[in-house]
Amino acid sequence: MPSRFCLAALCGLLSMAGCTFGPESPRGFALPKGDAEVGQATFEELRCHDCHSAEGVPQRDPAATDIHLPLGGKSTRVTTYAALVTSIINPSHRFSARMPRAVAKEDDSSRMPVYNELMTVQELIDLVAYLQPQYEVIVVSPNSYETYYP
Ligand code: HEC
Repeated sequence: MPSRFCLAALCGLLSMAGCTFGPESPRGFALPKGDAEVGQATFEELRCHDCHSAEGVPQRDPAATDIHLPLGGKSTRVTTYAALVTSIINPSHRFSARMPRAVAKEDDSSRMPVYNELMTVQELIDLVAYLQPQYEVIVVSPNSYETYYP
């Protein structure tokens, strides 16, 4: 039994390592420093606020859509800029836990438009510089109950 447990633990570790260090991992990915103020202006110019709100920018016309997804806020996971870049250039990669699946299109892709032909790399960098600090990591501490032995 213990060896089976070890094997399962090892497989788990290896698959995690695969994600972290594999050829498709974000390791080594670094953006140059962006300008958050310009990023905020870009957020409005590209009409991201048709569906989203973010710090200092309310959603443009909430009644016009059924998508209301505020960006930023508290999360138990660090929202890295790699994750944000992925959300922006590959919106169907991972559906937001905060969005009901019903919001996806029929082919299961995201309803967020693909901006890759419209956005410059500089705009992407500034957008991420604006959005990333809006995500706050909260630490969930495991409960501290002692084991109860009757
Ligand atoms: C037509 C609506 C729409 C517009 C416009 C839009 N998005 Fe989105 N966005 C979505 C939806 C829907 C999701 C949820 C994606 C998903 O996970 O499908 C999303 C997810 C995201 C996420 C991930 C959020 C999370 O909590 O995981 C980011 C970041 C984001 N969008 C940024 C942007 C930026 C930047 C723009 C403008 C360049 C933009 N979006 C424009 C609909 C939109």
